[in-house]
Amino acid sequence: MEKLSTPTSQTPGPQPRRLFSSKALAVLGLVGSAALYHHLPSLSYEGFHEQYYNALVGGTVHHCHSAYSRFPRADDPFHFIPCTNATLPPALDDADPGRSWARSFDPNPDHWSWGNATAKQDVQDGDPYAGRGIYLCGYLDVPLDYTNKSEDRIVRLAVTKYQVSGLARGPVLNNAASPSAGSKSERTIVIEPGGPGGSGTSYVWRAAEAITQRLSDSKFDVLGWDPRGVNTTSPAIACFPYDADRDRWFMLTGQYREVSGSPDAQLALTDAMNNATFRACYERHGDLARFVSTAFVARDMEEIRKSLGEDELTGYLVSYGTGIGQTWANMFPSSVGRVILDGTEYVRDHRLLGGFGWTALDNATDAWRDGFLGECLNAGPKYCALARPRGSEPVSLQELEIRMEKLVVSISQRPVPGYSVSSGPSLVTYSALVGAIYGALYNANSWPALAQMLYELEAGNSTLATAFLEPSEWEYDPTLPSPPSPKPSTDELGSLVICADSYDAPLPPDGLVWWQSLWANMTTQAWISGNSRFFNVFPCRHFTTYWPAPAEVYRGDLNHTLRSPVLLIAETYDPATPLRNGRRLLEEMGGNARLVVHHGYGHSSRDKSSCTDVVAKAYILNGTLPEEEETPCFADEKPYLYGVNATDARVRDAGAWDPVRVWREHLREIGS
Ligand SMILES: *[C@@H]1O[C@H](CO)[C@@H](O)[C@H](O)[C@H]1NC(C)=O
Ligand SMILES: *[C@@H]1O[C@H](CO)[C@@H](O)[C@H](O)[C@H]1NC(C)=O
Ligand SMILES: *[C@@H]1O[C@H](CO)[C@@H](O)[C@H](O)[C@H]1NC(C)=O
Ligand SMILES: *[C@@H]1O[C@H](CO)[C@@H](O)[C@H](O)[C@H]1NC(C)=O
Ligand SMILES: *[C@@H]1O[C@H](CO)[C@@H](O)[C@H](O)[C@H]1NC(C)=O
Ligand SMILES: *[C@@H]1O[C@H](CO)[C@@H](O)[C@H](O)[C@H]1NC(C)=O
Ligand SMILES: *[C@@H]1O[C@H](CO)[C@@H](O)[C@H](O)[C@H]1NC(C)=O
Ligand SMILES: *[C@@H]1O[C@H](CO)[C@@H](O)[C@H](O)[C@H]1NC(C)=O
Ligand SMILES: *[C@@H]1O[C@H](CO)[C@@H](O)[C@H](O)[C@H]1NC(C)=O
Ligand SMILES: *[C@@H]1O[C@H](CO)[C@@H](O)[C@H](O)[C@H]1NC(C)=O
Ligand SMILES: *[C@@H]1O[C@H](CO)[C@@H](O)[C@H](O)[C@H]1NC(C)=O
Repeated sequence: MEKLSTPTSQTPGPQPRRLFSSKALAVLGLVGSAALYHHLPSLSYEGFHEQYYNALVGGTVHHCHSAYSRFPRADDPFHFIPCTNATLPPALDDADPGRSWARSFDPNPDHWSWGNATAKQDVQDGDPYAGRGIYLCGYLDVPLDYTNKSEDRIVRLAVTKYQVSGLARGPVLNNAASPSAGSKSERTIVIEPGGPGGSGTSYVWRAAEAITQRLSDSKFDVLGWDPRGVNTTSPAIACFPYDADRDRWFMLTGQYREVSGSPDAQLALTDAMNNATFRACYERHGDLARFVSTAFVARDMEEIRKSLGEDELTGYLVSYGTGIGQTWANMFPSSVGRVILDGTEYVRDHRLLGGFGWTALDNATDAWRDGFLGECLNAGPKYCALARPRGSEPVSLQELEIRMEKLVVSISQRPVPGYSVSSGPSLVTYSALVGAIYGALYNANSWPALAQMLYELEAGNSTLATAFLEPSEWEYDPTLPSPPSPKPSTDELGSLVICADSYDAPLPPDGLVWWQSLWANMTTQAWISGNSRFFNVFPCRHFTTYWPAPAEVYRGDLNHTLRSPVLLIAETYDPATPLRNGRRLLEEMGGNARLVVHHGYGHSSRDKSSCTDVVAKAYILNGTLPEEEETPCFADEKPYLYGVNATDARVRDAGAWDPVRVWREHLREIGS
């Protein structure tokens, strides 16, 4: 898993990632979460088949694996096979990838990754897999350069699909109660978590079951892919040979402006290191950065649609994924089916120098003040540690804001020492703490834990702060055997995409002067997200030194007449993709879009609203859109009070509530 630190991307979303100088949060906007379901307890394979055949064919026992079909199927462009916990696409230099892939098929269903049973389908006939969806792993080869017919290099996209109807088991069962068992659904919800650099295959593991339930009552399959350069897609673009090298580098480049003794010296240092990092990308990967722009990612998505055999694409695209979606929809207007863009950015902004950064800052501070602090006081001391009165008077918002500012400023002046079992000495630094706060604003489920941590830190106890921050500090895991080291993370890909998309924006003539002014402006406007977003865009100064021009960027308008309108969802307190940008996009798209203004907290519509869910489901399932341009929807519950009426608050008071566990779940949920 990647480690997180400061949120970055807009989408940053998700998937958030460390673009180089920053450890960025992937900008993912993930919805809900789904358990990864490997290795379910089940009958032994032979035992299962005996029972199954006894029931179906009257007692004759067949000891063979033929009840399920063989994988991959000859006519399947994705080469799907049931995932095991070890399925990875064949390497690019494999001379016979089809054969290697077929050999990696494991015929034992006990090793496959099955989903949860849906409530309506109970276990039948002693079959432990009846009514369960299945995770299918595959790959799709696409051109490296769509604009050059004589280029024969390819990209091998890793693809994972959650098939809701599971797998058919031979002709008999297939004709039984559930005629659709084991087949592709009528539409497939294509998902993209954002970043740039977020892993779509990881997103499927984390969230596919919850997404299909939310958007289609578990009727449609869900497919995600690792975009070009990312994770298990090949080639994967990592510019450091080992994660340990990146960690070491990051100690110097990740310093926030407020703790730079000299911002000019720090900027010059980071700039030289960014130059060296892009040079390393060039040395290790040659011209590949020319082929990772959003326009090419959009073309990949169109290839995925064609390979699915669906005339129009159905999708749920989040955060920077909404930038892919806007670009794709306007390049391929006749392919647009039912597409939701949630946590909406305005992709035109990314053509501007630094635009990915400075257009994203509007509401992070509002989310901190009105949301994290304000809702804390609304919920009261039983649910939020920071609401505990220190004298006889209840805590006021103004007082709490001042207290927190004092705490954060004092840490900027002097980091707090800590200790953790996994790393020994540890430090609570300003940069790591503020990065963690930015990440927390993505997901209000984390707020009670963050409030507890800040409360204890304020009281002089750094134990919880250390436990929260330490997992986000390093990508290198020293406890893994070495060699062989795991493949390095593909963190640099995010900046390469951002910089490719803005490659032709004129650079200021005054060297670093303009950038210093931008850094100061961004951190002044948004102390929580300004540094992180600045670090996403600052490397762009060096892109054209190594790659004079990407093979393609999309520079057209965003108002093409689409086959059907898309549904935008934008959130009032989104810390990464402000509502303002969703409205600007709506204005350009006109009748080709509708907007749900989601009144709630967090990045993308994580803060559950039954109203938003009804609109989204009617659209995905039935193609029904609101008549009005804008539909307001309100979150069902308040942060700190999620589910309080459903669960017994005494469970928490009895000590079962573990802030470290809540924080870890939060990091997993935002994809870091
Ligand atoms: C699947 O089942 C497990 C165990 O009951 C549960 O923890 C998890 O939340 C379920 N996942 C989904 C997506 O329903
Ligand atoms: C995969 O599953 C097997 C057992 O099915 C287990 O031995 C192995 O450790 C697992 N590998 C990983 C990477 O989880
Ligand atoms: C097209 O690809 C070929 C083969 O890699 C290469 O020699 C040529 O320079 C490319 N043309 C352009 C315009 O990039
Ligand atoms: C792909 O991403 C997942 C989740 O982020 C991570 O566990 C895995 O190590 C990554 N794989 C590679 C090859 O980077
Ligand atoms: C980047 O570094 C190279 C040396 O590797 C140098 O020639 C070039 O001038 C540097 N670019 C900038 C903009 O500083
Ligand atoms: C978000 O920022 C905009 C400025 O672009 C501001 O007008 C709006 O009030 C902010 N929203 C909230 C909920 O504070
Ligand atoms: C510091 O906080 C930790 C974690 O919340 C707690 O277990 C420990 O008892 C606290 N230490 C002191 C001295 O209060
Ligand atoms: C920073 O803000 C100042 C004052 O608003 C403005 O004059 C300047 O152009 C801004 N600099 C950048 C790089 O945006
Ligand atoms: C899109 O907007 C441009 C102006 O930016 C306008 O010239 C063009 O006619 C519009 N296209 C459509 C299809 O509305
Ligand atoms: C879809 O349309 C059908 C028939 O009009 C209706 O019964 C159903 O409630 C709709 N579903 C949703 C989710 O809106
Ligand atoms: C819990 O239920 C009570 C009584 O129905 C209601 O007044 C209160 O608003 C609910 N609290 C939350 C947080 O939903």
